[in-house]
Amino acid sequence: MGEKNGYLPFPKSFKTICIHHTKEPKRETCKETMAPIVTSNICRLESAGGPSQVIKGRLLNPTRSVLENLIAKLCKTKYALTYASGIGAIAAVFSLLKSGDHLLCNDDIYGGTSKTLIQVCPNFGICTSFVDLTDLKSIPEYIRRNTKLIWTENPTNPTLEVMDLCGLSKVAHEHKLMLAVDNTFLSPYLQRPAELGVDLVVNSVTKYMNGHSDVIMGVVCTSRDNLYERLKFIQQRHFNHGSSTV
Ligand SMILES: Cc1ncc(COP(=O)(O)O)c(C=O)c1O
Repeated sequence: MGEKNGYLPFPKSFKTICIHHTKEPKRETCKETMAPIVTSNICRLESAGGPSQVIKGRLLNPTRSVLENLIAKLCKTKYALTYASGIGAIAAVFSLLKSGDHLLCNDDIYGGTSKTLIQVCPNFGICTSFVDLTDLKSIPEYIRRNTKLIWTENPTNPTLEVMDLCGLSKVAHEHKLMLAVDNTFLSPYLQRPAELGVDLVVNSVTKYMNGHSDVIMGVVCTSRDNLYERLKFIQQRHFNHGSSTV
């Protein structure tokens, strides 16, 4: 193409190329053996027989789905949902509560969690009693009409208190409460709380689960369909786009 008035000619289809050129990526004949890192913040979901749907990355990202499926398998749960940090995962669990709800939390707990419960959750009408959850017999006396959740870590940060998770799950379920455990210190390699009856298992992937100090991430694992559906909605603010874990 020659120059026009000193400028390179502007191809007619330039804007079209800008917008559409990458829409039909050519599949190579070889298949990757490791899950590729998909950085596109939009994906197209093909449905058999029907029209394909375009979905934003917060709702569905193939790399995230691979990771969530893997973590769910490691944690022996049906589902896993990943978040931008451990504290993000923790905040997602507290988002299951509503104004007027109450929860029990162990009195030794990671500072970021206790600050969330003391300085953030009350702004949304959610209040917490910090109690000794190693003393199973005393727990029923702290349970109120509006108690919805028992939250602990096992072992705890920083004093490494150890909980009886089977016992806690029995007390929680007798009183129709959810039991959530932050499993960061042991990771699924050493402890899989869902197998002991825990409803929601949180890990700061940032720590031992990643193990290389080069990732900030959190995950919530559960096998309870209703909790997964609610968490997925809270994460996406959208209904039912490609449940990531199966
Ligand atoms: C037990 C526990 N849970 C959660 C977190 C927060 O994780 P993140 O730094 O990924 O937000 C920490 C951080 O120290 C922790 O020790």
